Amino acid sequence: SMRIGLLTAGGDCPGLNAVIRGVVLKGTRLHDHEFMGVRGGWRGLVEDDIELLTRHQIRGLSKQGGTILGTSRVGPYGEGNGGAARVKETMARHGLDALVAIGGDGTLTVARMLHEEGVPVVGVPKTIDNDLAATDVTFGFDTAVQIATEAIDRLRTTGDSHQRCMVVEVMGRHAGWIALHAGIAGGAHAILVPEVPLRWEQVADWAQQTADRGRAPLVVVAEGFTPEGGEEVTTGGVDGFGRPLLGGIGVQAAANLQELTGIETRCTTLGHLQRGGSPSAYDRVLATRFGTAALDAVHEHDYGQMVALRGTEVVRVPLAEATMQTKAVPREQWEEAAILFG
Ligand code: F6P
Repeated sequence: SMRIGLLTAGGDCPGLNAVIRGVVLKGTRLHDHEFMGVRGGWRGLVEDDIELLTRHQIRGLSKQGGTILGTSRVGPYGEGNGGAARVKETMARHGLDALVAIGGDGTLTVARMLHEEGVPVVGVPKTIDNDLAATDVTFGFDTAVQIATEAIDRLRTTGDSHQRCMVVEVMGRHAGWIALHAGIAGGAHAILVPEVPLRWEQVADWAQQTADRGRAPLVVVAEGFTPEGGEEVTTGGVDGFGRPLLGGIGVQAAANLQELTGIETRCTTLGHLQRGGSPSAYDRVLATRFGTAALDAVHEHDYGQMVALRGTEVVRVPLAEATMQTKAVPREQWEEAAILFG
């Protein structure tokens, strides 16, 4: 039997605990492997913060948000962190035969570099943004879309009651998947994504068309959206208390739309609400499948691999191919949605 270390690194994401449970359950039920939890991502290997992870600890874990192991953005290749040599030392001290590293692009890149230096590691991809090219879907995305959709539904009834334009800012620094899916699901009158720069005048036109039909415009904007003609950005508006509208892109959108249309506008930034709490059923299933598939790869000593979803199959992809490729929203997919704007 083997002794396997688990870690979660980078931003948290609903479903991390379900992966941990999947790995440990399959490894203890079928193979008698032992598990150790590495605390705080790679930091636990750098600082030797590792403890036994028992079957008892993972009971009922698939529905729990966050990660019981904790997470951080500390990396072994950071200044003074000792690189692969330190990781190997810590692993040897605890008798660890292999690692399962659950994380996003940054974590998987570290896993690839460590593997190239001889560390036996298998990766599990995670991001609520769903922007990793090597897998069709990442767990956490479905939950984030669900939360954002519910927020849109709620914002619509208050917007309609007051005849206000409601702007909702969702996560997505590099890709607009959450904005696109939640926007379609919630029937948004405009969806602004990082992949498609637009002029505020265009967005204001859609808002005005909606208002002309007697509806309250609902605009979804991804945090990474950049308007075309940035010099026209205004942050000069004021909210209902007369306070200046300064802030992220959602607030800028609200200020510009209010100024261009004259429609009273409010902005809600969902932020980390999209990452907290219990994963959806879909995400629990995907995360559990990723966990058991990662255990299989470790059990077969097939290191340097990442698990991924292709269609409905969970497959293995070499970490070397999996990292560095982000999956952007194709313009055609945004255009499909844009037919319904205004
Ligand atoms: O990658 C996941 C994500 O939630 C992005 O959507 C967002 O831009 C970023 O992480 C936020 O990071 P932090 O938790 O450090 O504020």
